[in-house]
Amino acid sequence: MRRRPENQRHPLDPGRGRGVPFDSRLRRLTSTRRIGTLALFPRAIHVVVWIRLLRPLETVSRERPTLVKSLPGTLLLLATGCSVAEPSAYSTLQPVSDYGRLVLDVYGDLFWWTAGIFVVVELLLLYALVRYRGRDGDSGVPDQVHGFTALEIGWTLIPAAILFFIAIPTVRTIFQLHGPPPDPDPLEITVVGHQWWWEFQYPELGIVTANELHVPVGRTTHLTLTSADVIHSFWVPRLGGKRDLNPGSENRMWFTPTETGVFYGQCAELCGTSHANMRMQVFVDDTAAFEEWVASMRQPAVPDSAGTMTFLISGCAACHAIDGSPAQGKVGPNLTNMGRRTTLASALIENTPENMAGWLRNPDSVKPGAMMPDLNLDDQRIDDLVRFLEGLR
Ligand code: CUA
Repeated sequence: MRRRPENQRHPLDPGRGRGVPFDSRLRRLTSTRRIGTLALFPRAIHVVVWIRLLRPLETVSRERPTLVKSLPGTLLLLATGCSVAEPSAYSTLQPVSDYGRLVLDVYGDLFWWTAGIFVVVELLLLYALVRYRGRDGDSGVPDQVHGFTALEIGWTLIPAAILFFIAIPTVRTIFQLHGPPPDPDPLEITVVGHQWWWEFQYPELGIVTANELHVPVGRTTHLTLTSADVIHSFWVPRLGGKRDLNPGSENRMWFTPTETGVFYGQCAELCGTSHANMRMQVFVDDTAAFEEWVASMRQPAVPDSAGTMTFLISGCAACHAIDGSPAQGKVGPNLTNMGRRTTLASALIENTPENMAGWLRNPDSVKPGAMMPDLNLDDQRIDDLVRFLEGLR
């Protein structure tokens, strides 16, 4: 198996940009920060619990687990659900948009309702266990009872009623999220899924970019989603739910970001070899930063260097466009202002000259199955191209 060079890391990797190999960074991270042992603890318990469960049934049934004996195991099992790790970049529990908040509110309501049901059911169970437990002097089989119409109707109707009440906020939210955007004048963006990268078009602004989406905070963004090849799924967990990108048809989705920051996304529909590497970043900018970005995208500076010519004659321009230059290819990502992007290869690795050179030298080693061909560029051309692309800003 080919190993990805140490300097080509995903932006989420803890060693990002620190010049320290990832493995040693991870080791330091797990040993010095509070997430360390506590976050690993539940994993270890999972293993122990599974080993115990997978032991031959015979051995288990000969033992008589008492409440006291099984209590530590139960508590350990419960602990596997706990983690004090910092929130994941892909957490849906800390939404930063109206869409994410609406979904979390439904989950929150359902959680407390089901928690209440759980308590009632467990209390009834405990009552039955205590009230009807075996006592000294009991002998033989207890009275056998068959049929209790009221009870049977009851335990059919109550779950149906519970499902009905769960359906009300769920369906209401689904309709709300599939309805028109709340803002009558949203920012329109067309998202096109490609194997394995994201194209973002801003039709009203005349901007096309890839893999790094810029949107303003506080204004609704309205996405029109489609695909150039197979089915993909747009998913930025902190901004909202998943929505498919289907070839030949359009889906829509909206969200109003409530916080500035960089939020991570991932294709959520198996779409081929590098599905897992089809990542993206959403930059929620304040109004001034967003306007500055728009202005720079509409008036890109294209340096007149050796790299420009190399880009045009090496085959790059057949697939890639750079606004303000003769390169107008449409198959691959638009590279306008490439030097300003923070990542390469659909947000897979950090945008550094070394990573860019490695990507140009052998795309397949960075992103398996990458559609970008290996153009057999010599070191001089790679050097020219890296300087040219990093200079586009
Ligand atoms: Cu695109 Cu998975």
